[in-house]
Amino acid sequence: MAHEPLHTMGQQHGRRSWAEPWKIKMVEPLAVTTRGQREAALAEAGYNTFLLHSEDVYIDLLTDSGTSAMSDRQWAGMMLGDEAYAGSRNFYHLEAAVQRFYGYRHLVPTHQGRGAEHLISRALIRPGDHVPGNMYFTTTRLHQELAGATFHDVIVDEAHDPESLHPFKGNVDLAKLERLVAEVGAEKVPYVSLAGTVNMAGGQPVSMANVRELRAWCEPRGIRVLLDATRMVENALFIQEREEGYAGRTIAEILLEFCSYTDGAWMSSKKDHLVNIGGWLAVNDREVFEELRNLVVVYEGLHTYGGMAGRDMEALAIGIEEAVRDDHVRSRVGQVRYLGELLEEWSIPIVRPIGGHAIFLDARRFYPHLAQDLFPAQTLAAELYLDSGIRSMERGIVSAGRDPVTGDHKRPKLELTRLTIPRRVYTQAHMDVVAESVKACFDARAAAKGLRMVHEPKYLRFFQARFEPIA
Ligand code: F0G
Repeated sequence: MAHEPLHTMGQQHGRRSWAEPWKIKMVEPLAVTTRGQREAALAEAGYNTFLLHSEDVYIDLLTDSGTSAMSDRQWAGMMLGDEAYAGSRNFYHLEAAVQRFYGYRHLVPTHQGRGAEHLISRALIRPGDHVPGNMYFTTTRLHQELAGATFHDVIVDEAHDPESLHPFKGNVDLAKLERLVAEVGAEKVPYVSLAGTVNMAGGQPVSMANVRELRAWCEPRGIRVLLDATRMVENALFIQEREEGYAGRTIAEILLEFCSYTDGAWMSSKKDHLVNIGGWLAVNDREVFEELRNLVVVYEGLHTYGGMAGRDMEALAIGIEEAVRDDHVRSRVGQVRYLGELLEEWSIPIVRPIGGHAIFLDARRFYPHLAQDLFPAQTLAAELYLDSGIRSMERGIVSAGRDPVTGDHKRPKLELTRLTIPRRVYTQAHMDVVAESVKACFDARAAAKGLRMVHEPKYLRFFQARFEPIA
């Protein structure tokens, strides 16, 4: 078993390692570039890692979204696509998998997570509403705002402190929620937007006790609890490891219990579900489901494909089953931890505790001499690429965008550079190379000067913004 403590058998050797519960059947060659080539590529990309060509990248840690390696069973499923416009067999497999592992009654397929966010926001939010959530996610909050809501962060304070070792930094602070609802009125709060794990906080989990309490508080007030289930499988592992009473429960059991305290969920299957594209929305309420079915045919596709091909739905149905296996989740999060622990040994500042899907470098402590307006996390992503061709992502002031009312930069406390680990893609040796490159940038940190933004798109600016180095 993966993370079991030392047993007598291994003690004379002093260590017992764990390894991935799979072996490699097909490989994709990687290109190694020269420093000169990387300097040219980064300048061409406006110092934004989203604008690099993937061919110019060596180890790609931009995101864990849609970048997983599928299993042989999933690839076999791709050959069983029933590409009928309506009523594809693969849709019913997907529906059954979601009902079995997440427990919701009604399923609406979508092309990916933000498709589902769009539909649920339109269905439930009226202009002037307020949506509380455990920190924001970029696309989630934007869809809520575009539907007319004001978003309120009600996560525990510890989530904004990269050094706090709170075991459940994704938890909702019920006192903050209570204050908000007292101020605006429960009828103006269509739902609480609960994410497990919390991406922008560093992949931090929500405890079972917290979702149970949240449910008990919301139900009598007529406020729904809706779950962003994108990385909920990883959240379940943290509950198993850290929360009393769950050590003997499987990931699948924990997932089902957690979802039972919520009214529905949206999902970017490109993460937990080990597929390259796909997503869904699932609810228990029949009326809400009817409204979502009205909307899905306008924006995504018919209610039995929602923007996915039949083959994609088959690979997704199989991926859901593989995603909840305990050995898979342990090795997935274990690899993230392996990288994080190497960095901790070298005293490189990262968000702690180490989260589920990524290591988040704390750019404020990495570059204490750079003001937030010089985009320290964006600068660090650029320096890492220049050093070794490793691609990471900014999660700080650029990602936070501007306040829709004042037009000023939002200035998040967390100014982070994310090293996101795709599932089943890279080896431990790749993680060593990544750690050593981060160390090289850390040793050269005093020379970093920051960036200036020279092009700023209106929505989700981090994707396409352009920068220039400060001379
Ligand atoms: N919710 C969370 C928590 C996410 O991390 C994402 C995407 C979405 C919703 C939207 O899903 O991309 O399928 O439309 N996160 C990616 C990332 C892009 O890199 O973290 P999507």
